Amino acid sequence: EKIVLAYSGGLDTSVILAWLKETYDAEIIAFTADIGQKDELDGLEEKALATGASKVYIDDLREEFASDFIYPMFQSGALYEGQYLLGTSIARPLIAKRMVEIARAEGATAIAHGATGKGNDQVRFELTAAALAPEISVIAPWRLEAFREQFPGRAEMIEYAEKHGIQVQATASKPYSTDRNLLHISFESGMLEDPWFDASADSNRDMYVLSVSPEDAPDQPEYIELEFEQGNAVAINGEKLNPLQMMETLNELGGKHGIGRIDMVENRFVGMKSRGVYETPGGTILFAAHRRIESLTMDREVMHLRDSLISKYSTLVYNGFWFAPERLAIQALVTESQKNVTGTVRMKLYKGNVIAAGVKSPVSLYNPNIATMEADPTQAYDQGDAAGFIRLNALRLKVSSGVEQQSGK
Ligand code: ARG
Ligand code: SIN
Repeated sequence: EKIVLAYSGGLDTSVILAWLKETYDAEIIAFTADIGQKDELDGLEEKALATGASKVYIDDLREEFASDFIYPMFQSGALYEGQYLLGTSIARPLIAKRMVEIARAEGATAIAHGATGKGNDQVRFELTAAALAPEISVIAPWRLEAFREQFPGRAEMIEYAEKHGIQVQATASKPYSTDRNLLHISFESGMLEDPWFDASADSNRDMYVLSVSPEDAPDQPEYIELEFEQGNAVAINGEKLNPLQMMETLNELGGKHGIGRIDMVENRFVGMKSRGVYETPGGTILFAAHRRIESLTMDREVMHLRDSLISKYSTLVYNGFWFAPERLAIQALVTESQKNVTGTVRMKLYKGNVIAAGVKSPVSLYNPNIATMEADPTQAYDQGDAAGFIRLNALRLKVSSGVEQQSGK
């Protein structure tokens, strides 16, 4: 029997690797997706083999992540509960997709992951697996009572690791949990569980990875020009970049200027509220720029229709329904809505802010001649028409107001 494990090299997935091998008497294939988590990948292959993996996959999925997941999602304007740019949520379906591909190629009957039974990630992994490979079963050790009883705390895991020759990092583990990729890094649990804990305090500055705090950002603003084609950012300051290069460049710029820190209490799909702190430097710039180029180039009704779907789309991504038919259906509308979203946005990056500093487009729908308060040379708009327009729209308001007055309300 073969099991494909989503492996990070941390204490949890290392213990799970050894435990699965022992418990199921199976061959364990360790899989790590490189989705931009950087240094966390160092020495991973040797470590997985030493821990007992029969084979190790470390796949660079960064381009696919940027092109086929981050970019289409940003076209939609997705934002969960008004704040969260879905950095972890959008990565899970890609990891699970590759995991079931490997399982099929290797003839494995199960996949396993180290997500807890209380979080969103288990749902995202498993809904993706169900959508793409329903014949493959899933093992989630943290949901098994036997596993939880054997490992009630970190001490038991360290002891087990040592007994199985797994090297445990000498460095004290961080008092919170993180998840990093090309789009963001998240921080949860530990001291963050107290929503009154001030994560922005100077005493907490060491937690952050991708950005400086706005207080420490340069005193001089930095101008950038971002070019969009059909809703996708394609060039910065005149230089063409693919989606991966674009995300890396924007992360660098945003991080330097203290952009994209979010601190929120969010609603998990499994029912509880949870406090999360996020750094999404590049995504925050991209989000603002995209909205701005849309303002010039998108038809009003198309924009409002797409906007009406943002909450739905965001919830689908958050809840793990990336490969569900309804997400694909909305995506088709979103992509269609972006056909004319082409042009250039100029922005000023300054101490945590993305400040609008100009927008232009060869296919702009904005016509200053029509909007102007000066005489309109095109005569496209007759102010006299507005009187009838308002009168007809007012009709039903007058009627219902009259009825209310009569009934003495
Ligand atoms: N709360 C965020 C989300 O559900 C971040 C989850 C982070 N996951 C993790 N395994 N640390 O998308
Ligand atoms: C976990 O429980 O594995 C992390 C948090 C989450 O998935 O929401």
